[in-house]
Amino acid sequence: MATSQRIAVYPGSFDPLTNGHVDIIRRGARLFDRIVVAILVNEQKTPMFTTDDRVAMVREAFAGEPSVGVETFDGLLVEFAARHGAGAIVRGLRAVSDFEYEFQMALMNRRLDARVETVFMMPAAEYSYISSRLVKEVVMLGGSVTGLVPEAVERRLHDRRARA
Ligand code: PNS
Repeated sequence: MATSQRIAVYPGSFDPLTNGHVDIIRRGARLFDRIVVAILVNEQKTPMFTTDDRVAMVREAFAGEPSVGVETFDGLLVEFAARHGAGAIVRGLRAVSDFEYEFQMALMNRRLDARVETVFMMPAAEYSYISSRLVKEVVMLGGSVTGLVPEAVERRLHDRRARA
């Protein structure tokens, strides 16, 4: 891969992928040559979906879009970014309430590796209230999340509810 390529990582739990995430990935793909969705393998949190499921949902949503990659990671994000030649970390900002946590992470990541810049992007306003947590809660309580997550994600959420 040419070193002049601009590569970004977009890290998160993606448990599951929402249309807010999809919106940020598409915006990132317009700014960077390649955007690598980096799914955290979190042993402490108990995710609803396995790492393999979370990877599959991103793959399905971006099938045929070679500029969007999907990987898993544990350990430090800046080390993952360095291994992938990424000069930027993309994070979505939905509301002011996201800012404090994001600001802390961005400055900590800068302290750990000043070569990596954090870039904040706002999703379309219609997605500004969506979170993976709320999507899971609504589905488990029998509500509809149509239009808030990709169809393949919605199917998996309903399967999960049926098996709960
Ligand atoms: O979608 P999330 O759960 O808010 O994502 C959080 C994530 C994965 C971006 C954050 O937990 C992370 O970067 N974890 C990796 C560990 C790390 O590098 N920590 C130090 C930097 S703050």
